[in-house]
Amino acid sequence: MRLLVLGGTSFLSKQIAHDAVARGHDVVCAARGQSGSAPEGAQLLVLDRDRPGAVKALSGERFDAVVDVATGTGALRWVLDALDVLADHAQHWTFVSTVNVYADTATLGQTTDAPLCEPVLETVTEMTVERYGGIKVACENAVRERMGRDRAFVVRSGLITGPGDGSDRFGYWAARFARGGQAVVPDSPRQPIQQIDVRDLAAWIVTAAEQRLAGTYDAVGPILELGAVLREIAELVGTPDLQLVPIAPDTLVEAGINPWSGPASLPLWLPTDTYGFVAHDPAPARAAGLAVRSLADTVRSALAHEQTRGLDRPRSAGLTPAEEQKLLERTGTLDQAPTTTA
Ligand SMILES: NC(=O)c1ccc[n+]([C@@H]2O[C@H](COP(=O)([O-])OP(=O)(O)OC[C@H]3O[C@@H](n4cnc5c(N)ncnc54)[C@H](OP(=O)(O)O)[C@@H]3O)[C@@H](O)[C@H]2O)c1
Repeated sequence: MRLLVLGGTSFLSKQIAHDAVARGHDVVCAARGQSGSAPEGAQLLVLDRDRPGAVKALSGERFDAVVDVATGTGALRWVLDALDVLADHAQHWTFVSTVNVYADTATLGQTTDAPLCEPVLETVTEMTVERYGGIKVACENAVRERMGRDRAFVVRSGLITGPGDGSDRFGYWAARFARGGQAVVPDSPRQPIQQIDVRDLAAWIVTAAEQRLAGTYDAVGPILELGAVLREIAELVGTPDLQLVPIAPDTLVEAGINPWSGPASLPLWLPTDTYGFVAHDPAPARAAGLAVRSLADTVRSALAHEQTRGLDRPRSAGLTPAEEQKLLERTGTLDQAPTTTA
């Protein structure tokens, strides 16, 4: 198969290119080369999709399959430009979307026919969570309209984890527990959580291209409970002196701790009215071939990735040691927490 990956120099798209090369496919990556290099064995065509007409460098090329991970404020323009040049010369088109496309973040167990955000068709300069979903809806629609439903494969991914994850979310917990001591965790043990390992998602996307799988899927792993997930991570990588210190969500909010991601956050923790965001029905993707590895495998790989980057490095998500200490002092739990589970 001749595969074009629009991207291919970091995280998911690089893993897709890597997987396809390993299966013996002829892989072309098209990106600026700023995030990294293309995997060994793949060709990198250097282009900047923000420059009008950049994708015309691919005019005249033919591909059995195209994978596009377009995201950001200009994603719709990128997608339309790529379709203009390549739609008539590609047999199969994967667009990597997100579960942020869903308008309802509260309801558990939703499937792909759930209501979507309004498509964002106009050019925007600043990204918000709402716009992120709406831009992806517009991109999905463009791919389906131009390729036809029998050649379009739309993958609405949930949280992507594993090696190469630069978001600092899932990896925060592996790194934090590996540092030991008193670790603050959200006291939300029954919160649902879903993640998908980048290697499993990439493998499925390559298989889908090989098999010309079409349709729209939520690419998510099983619905787990946050308490059990944190407990498993702690058991796998925690030091002997690790103590999990659960702190109530109201107390975390009062202390200015953010949910899910970003600075001063407890990654993966969510407000109750957004539990639906991490509880999509995993069955259709699974039935269509998405195989999910064990959580333990993902945790060990996430820790290895964290160790190469340094467990004590500044992070874009999670609590700094000083923030965690302050929180423990504020809640009167410093050095007196029982050894417990989340
Ligand atoms: N991370 C998650 O948890 C998550 C969850 C749900 C959905 N998703 C979706 O999954 C997809 C993959 O996300 P990712 O974080 O893994 O990104 P990625 O696929 O690793 O990287 C994005 C690619 O786009 C390229 N790129 C960026 N700007 C470009 C430009 N101006 N011109 C040409 N190429 C450009 C980058 O290469 P250069 O910088 O080298 O140009 C890189 O290869 C995205 O569609 C995202 O919306 C991610």
